[in-house]
Amino acid sequence: MEKATITLAADADGIARAAALLREGRQVAFPTETVYGLGADARDDRAVAGIYAAKGRPAFNPLIVHVADTDTAQQIAAFSPKARALADAFWPGPLTLVLPLRAGAGISRLVTAGLDSVALRVPAHPVARALLAAFGGPVAAPSANPSGRISPTTAAHVVAGLSGRIAAVLDGGATPVGVESTIVGFDSDAPVLLRPGGVAGEDIARVLGQPLRRPDSPAQPTSPGQLASHYAPRGRVRLEATEAHPGEVMLGFGPVDGALNLSPSADMTEAAANLFAMLHRLDEAGAEAICVAPIPRRGLGVAINDRLARAAAPRDRS
Ligand code: TXA
Ligand code: MG
Repeated sequence: MEKATITLAADADGIARAAALLREGRQVAFPTETVYGLGADARDDRAVAGIYAAKGRPAFNPLIVHVADTDTAQQIAAFSPKARALADAFWPGPLTLVLPLRAGAGISRLVTAGLDSVALRVPAHPVARALLAAFGGPVAAPSANPSGRISPTTAAHVVAGLSGRIAAVLDGGATPVGVESTIVGFDSDAPVLLRPGGVAGEDIARVLGQPLRRPDSPAQPTSPGQLASHYAPRGRVRLEATEAHPGEVMLGFGPVDGALNLSPSADMTEAAANLFAMLHRLDEAGAEAICVAPIPRRGLGVAINDRLARAAAPRDRS
């Protein structure tokens, strides 16, 4: 276990030091365009085990592998024409593809939790891209928060949750998208939306020329990250609220204003970028009950509502 977590500036020196720590098998948090990831060498079992340990994450939960480009991704997984079309349209960017793992790809079994598929993504954030280039290998990275807690969108969030448990955090400022990547898998050749996220499902369906299916069963082991209660602040959460009840703090949206407002102008991109940061702020302020204004279920609103539903779910997690 690490002792002190150092914060590294996202300049050439900081990126070189972060890459060196990854090469030593250590765990380093870094910004992506979605949220901060907790990275480790995806080929190194011990390094990956260190991610699970730092997060206190259930060991059956597989991790996303971050790579520099589509060529590298194709060495790790087999791409169908549809998968290739999505990579061409959305990488680098907030899309994760779950694809058949190639034999001999060298990815730690702890990353895939023993599945014969692997989740891959080429991030767009310049600091993530610089780190992947400097490291020169695949980086496994879940969101850099303790398991079951809110995803971090600033280096300060990472430090608040994981200080003393990881080697370093590369500070690249606030992450622009603010919700995790959209995860798409394939059932035979049919595209399945495993997790809504930073790329709108409508845009994916448009590129493929066919609708995305939802997973057959929400409890499917192929998407174990979809634990019911996740992204949870400490306080109770009530959704679709048009006004605060006594004792509640309101998280507003558009004209339904509150102590904080995700986007006074009802802009979905702004709301997604603010979501976790505002939940963190209410958490830090000690809010015991949070109510959230209705958010339309279109575009990024699907991902926002998904995360909010998890934040409001009964607290049955460890
Ligand atoms: O935006 C993101 O995706 C962020 C940044 C850091 O890249 N990462 C992220 O990772 O959200 P994480 O570990 O918090 O979520 C990974 C999700 C989980 O729901 C997991 O179950 C799913 O990906 N997953 C990973 N490998 C899978 C696989 N082989 N099959 C199905 N689902 C998989
Ligand atoms: Mg997460």
